[in-house]
Amino acid sequence: MTATEAARTFRELFGQEPSGVWSAPGRVNLIGEHTDYNGGLALPIALPQRTYAAMRLRDDGLLRMSSAHAGDAVSEVSLSDVRPGHPTGWTAYVAGVAWALEQAGHRVPGADIVVVSDVPVGAGLSSSAALECSVMAAFDRLLHIGMLGQPAGRARAAHLCQLAENDIAGAPTGGMDQAASLRTTRSHALLLDSRSGAVRQVPFEPERHGLALLVVDTRAEHALVDGQYAERRATCEHAAEALGVATLREVPMDGLDEALDRLDDERARARVRHVVTEIERVVRCVAALEDDDFDTVGELFTESHASLRDDYEVSCVELDLVVDTALGCGALGARMTGAGFGGSAIALVRADEIETVSASVERAFADSGLKAPASFAVTAGGPAARDL
Ligand code: GLA
Repeated sequence: MTATEAARTFRELFGQEPSGVWSAPGRVNLIGEHTDYNGGLALPIALPQRTYAAMRLRDDGLLRMSSAHAGDAVSEVSLSDVRPGHPTGWTAYVAGVAWALEQAGHRVPGADIVVVSDVPVGAGLSSSAALECSVMAAFDRLLHIGMLGQPAGRARAAHLCQLAENDIAGAPTGGMDQAASLRTTRSHALLLDSRSGAVRQVPFEPERHGLALLVVDTRAEHALVDGQYAERRATCEHAAEALGVATLREVPMDGLDEALDRLDDERARARVRHVVTEIERVVRCVAALEDDDFDTVGELFTESHASLRDDYEVSCVELDLVVDTALGCGALGARMTGAGFGGSAIALVRADEIETVSASVERAFADSGLKAPASFAVTAGGPAARDL
């Protein structure tokens, strides 16, 4: 799936050249899970896999949208009809971006859009953020807004993409995915501080140390994901309120025990413990990366997984199986990544053991009667940009 393919499909469907093609990456989060909506720290990388949007403006207030995933059918929506809950499905993310731009005072006259993508959909790798951010990059240029030209503008663009997802698509997500897609740089992880909105680029090139980051898409589909995510978020917000702080970010690591003593619900205590210790793990992981200490990075991945599994309770059989199998094969560390309940896991492995680990995971899934997973090694890719 490439920019030229998006342009070709555009010509076939709309009988004209697109004005350009823009793309944006999916992401994996190295560590710092379920921290963004708690004002905490996260450390995602952009994936090499990207979503490409070919676009041309129209002047009649219509959005006409087509995606290879949706079989190249053209969906049409009038910009004046875009509202929470309408349209639905993948077009909500596209229309949501146009809506968010209008909310921010930019007039969107309409557009024809063709989307192609090699970001696996439903794998917890932020195919929705890649979609929003590719469309945002296209509008930013075609409407001469210029946000993507400077870091502060990219932060604003990420925020608008998050609004599209929260308000129009109705997913109460926290903003990490859009930041990863718009604000990373190649060969770096993005240290995102969700309290201040500040970012720092942290070199991430395990390949220079004979290592590789393996992504395993479990292909596990779990019902109730959205409800579970919203429920975790609400529990954290109530706990922060009970503790008299704006977000759980305000609970320092050395104040954790005292904070836990003040909460009487066992489940809330476990959730808070995850968030506070996870933020601390991000700090330690950045320090370890800066020291090229990948053993410690691996250990932190594995600790993060245990915390997500036991305290935050967002793992599942398939994710635990990937982590246990990878560790059993000598991975330096492994963890679920993204929201959980299915989706993908990551493992830090020696480069010459990629095949062994992937094959062992595949075998373990087959032995457990599970659908075959998909494994692939990734390097840290670049942010949303123009391709053609
Ligand atoms: C999803 C959300 C993010 C973040 C992660 C969990 O990917 O979109 O905002 O909350 O889950 O870390």
